[in-house]
Amino acid sequence: MAQETHLNKKASESEIPASFVYEGMPEEKADEKKIRGNKFSELDQYINLYTKEPGQLIIILQKAQDIFGYLPEKVQAYIAEKTGTPVSEVNGVVTFYSLFSTEPRGKYTLDICMGTACYIKGAQELMNTLKDQLQIDAGETTPDNFFTVKSTRCIGACGLAPVLVVNGKVHRNANSGQITKIIKQYRKGEDGENKKH
Ligand code: FES
Repeated sequence: MAQETHLNKKASESEIPASFVYEGMPEEKADEKKIRGNKFSELDQYINLYTKEPGQLIIILQKAQDIFGYLPEKVQAYIAEKTGTPVSEVNGVVTFYSLFSTEPRGKYTLDICMGTACYIKGAQELMNTLKDQLQIDAGETTPDNFFTVKSTRCIGACGLAPVLVVNGKVHRNANSGQITKIIKQYRKGEDGENKKH
């Protein structure tokens, strides 16, 4: 596809403002710095593509999260500078939408909807079961970087309550008994969607 060809083309290092080039930690290897620099170059491709259209900030943020895995302050500032958007506005969008994360996340993000309909139908029990099974709190990631547990606002699927969302895939009418099975499935990659990852 022509668009993919365009996106895959890397920008030159000179297109990255010096103030945003990742300097790295003292112990960071040269290879790691280069990878980080390449990620900003990849992000530039999307920014250049989408800033031609107004109101594309969310799409750019989604692409940035795909590239970096999360949206730290440095990446938010970079997007603000490149798109001419106030940093406060970028940060406001990032913190408003639960699909964005400012912390590193695991391979799979398990979101429990805590909206009213899901809460009434046992969302808190689901959350407690998840935390027990994975031995982490909401907002945390397992030590093997496999799962991140989060809560989310209503996703507009109240008729399916309570819902567990795994990387955007909705598991309807979830119950505590299913949690163990669902976790095992994702660990083994048995779910049809997961085999693509
Ligand atoms: S309250 Fe959970 S989907 Fe609406």
